[in-house]
Amino acid sequence: MKVLMINGSPRPDGNTSIALREMEKIFSREGIEAKTIQIGNMDIRGCIACGNCSKTGKCVFDDIVNKTAADLEEADGLVIASPVYYASANATLIAFLDRLFFSTHFDKTMKVGASVVCARRGGCTATFDELNKYFTIANMPIASSQ
Ligand SMILES: Cc1cc2nc3c(=O)[nH]c(=O)nc-3n(C[C@H](O)[C@H](O)[C@H](O)COP(=O)(O)O)c2cc1C
Repeated sequence: MKVLMINGSPRPDGNTSIALREMEKIFSREGIEAKTIQIGNMDIRGCIACGNCSKTGKCVFDDIVNKTAADLEEADGLVIASPVYYASANATLIAFLDRLFFSTHFDKTMKVGASVVCARRGGCTATFDELNKYFTIANMPIASSQ
């Protein structure tokens, strides 16, 4: 079993990283391979709705999104993690996820999704809902609670 974890924080040793490291420990204990990609400090543009991916199955901008698509296709589970910015997910992460989910056409229906959010004080539930919608729109089951 393989789990892909996407860290939307720009801070490599931030709170989101700490949360993901806790998850890595559990995955390792259960014999599940986990790969973490930190994308929050990358220069990632948003979707331009060009529709090219409907023909090619990949994004017209050949960057970390297309690289991650290969990892996602192989993965059995996907963790999306974000710091809360103004009661929402980090904007770089949203640009990344819009393009990743829209451009890839492989079956995601039996990949399990889980979201992780970190905040100083408020906006966690709104951000959690925002991230979980990528899973529900892709017909993915969600690992709720523990
Ligand atoms: C631009 C910006 C907006 C933020 N907005 C919120 C917010 O709406 N609510 C909140 O509780 N914390 C907010 N924070 C604080 C972060 O969510 C918090 O420090 C989080 O733990 C950072 O995670 P990280 O260390 O993984 O980057 C904001 C931080 C930044 C930089």
